[in-house]
Parts: sequence; C-alpha cells; structure tokens
Amino acid sequence: MCKISKSGNIVIVGFMGAGKSSVGEALARCSGKRFIDLDALIVKRQGRTIAEIFSEEGEKAFRDYETSALESLSDTGLVVATGGGIVGRPENWVLMRRMGLVLYLRAGWPTLRARIVGCTKRPLANVHRSEEEIVALLESRLPLYEQADLTFDTDGKTIADTAIEIWREIKDRS
Ligand code: S3P
Repeated sequence: MCKISKSGNIVIVGFMGAGKSSVGEALARCSGKRFIDLDALIVKRQGRTIAEIFSEEGEKAFRDYETSALESLSDTGLVVATGGGIVGRPENWVLMRRMGLVLYLRAGWPTLRARIVGCTKRPLANVHRSEEEIVALLESRLPLYEQADLTFDTDGKTIADTAIEIWREIKDRS
C-alpha cells in the first residue's frame, strides 16, 4: 500500500483542465491540509501571468520557475496542485516523491476539451494551438502521469465527490 510520507503532503498531477486546483482546494478542506497552487505561487513570485512569462521568456524559463517553486515547498500538511507540464522533468518527480503521495487526476479528452478550449490563460492550449496539437501533447504525457502513486478518474463527477472519494481512499495511509 502506498503511504503518505511522514510529511503528509499530497501532490496532484494531471493534464490542463483535469480539475487539479478545484479538487485540490476541496481535498485540502476535507483533509484539514493547506492548499497550494503551484502556478499561482509562480505568478505571485514573478508578478506576471503565466502567459506573460511564456511570451517574454519562453517555456524553458517557465519550467525553471516551476521547478524552483516546487523545490521551495518545505512545509508539511500540504495539498499541492501542480501545472500540467510538471511531469516532464525527472527532477520534478524526485521532488514530488520526496514531498509525499503523488495523485494523478485523470479525465478523458471530451472533459478536458470542454474546460480548456477557448481559455486564453494557458499558453500551451490557447487559440494558436490546434486541437490535434493539444491531444498530441496529452498523449505524449499520459505515460508520465501514470507514474503517479494513485490515479483517480474525474469524468462525470463533481469536484466535491472527487475530493471525498480521494480522501476516503487515502486518509488511513498517513
Ligand atoms: C501547463 C499547464 C498550466 C500551466 C502552464 C503550462 C502545461 O497549468 O502550468 O500553462 O504545460 O500543461 P494547468 O495544468 O493548471 O492548466
């Protein structure tokens, strides 16, 4: 059985639109942990939006900020929602596994599509990206997300139900 490490942290991974932030917030509420949104932390530290960081400095710089933000989380008792691309760097996996239990929030393309198409905030899924490109990105990442300790499907479920299901499954593992 996968244990939550002694730090008791839970790290949520998944593609854009999987509901990492909303489920993460609800999970933090039902588990009594503190919620951290890694993208929001980067935006706060940088004083710029993610789209601005991408357009001014490119994706590589954003990925460096992302790894630094992850590395800076030393607290215990956290639920951390990551950005969809965090899984791309092996060093991020070392950091996430050191922090605690890694959960993959899985959703099918129709669910993801409904949430991300037309959203201007996501540089890798904005109007300049074709649906084929976004699906190709999703497919290239699936084996990475599957390296998580546990997977939860979110299709057709509410945020609250997903959070409750996760907490029921993992609460005895700490
Ligand atoms: C990204 C996902 C975004 C954000 C950035 C890059 C990605 O976060 O980190 O736009 O590479 O999938 P969300 O997954 O919260 O949308």
